[in-house]
Amino acid sequence: MIKVLFVCLGNICRSPLAEGVFLHLLQQKDLLQNFSVDSAGTGDWHVGHGADKRSQAVAKQNGFELYSKARQVKISDFTEFDWIIAMDDNNREDLKRLCLPALQSKIILMRDFDIPEFKGEDVPDPYYGGDEGFIHVYLMLERSCANFLEHIKT
Ligand code: 4NP
Repeated sequence: MIKVLFVCLGNICRSPLAEGVFLHLLQQKDLLQNFSVDSAGTGDWHVGHGADKRSQAVAKQNGFELYSKARQVKISDFTEFDWIIAMDDNNREDLKRLCLPALQSKIILMRDFDIPEFKGEDVPDPYYGGDEGFIHVYLMLERSCANFLEHIKT
């Protein structure tokens, strides 16, 4: 079983969508039984809330639903999960501060799996913007999740 945790700030926009994109991909490839997938936020403002309506809409447009309820990252996540995928550099730095040095290599940046020209860039926070920001985020998550899956399968 490979355990993957997607992390953003609020756990209502980007990481639930990343979780949904990745689960949808696993379903299409008949790999769901090999994985445990979750998402969490570094912040606690939205704990218990479902994904933002705009993330839900973009998921639905692309053939899947988002069922996650927001939760905050907890210390046991660093031992529980094999891969902890931060949406942006702030998330990554916050995670590293919480994590024992010996486990920090589990923490990686989502867009390090995007196409080479976008390596190292952030998945931008779409919360305060319009619907187009969510479509933009979806497209980068689709590319990055597909490449991440190839990376861990090989
Ligand atoms: P997320 O977006 O980190 O992609 O879930 C945000 C959602 C809410 C807030 C910030 C970012 N907020 O400040 O409430």
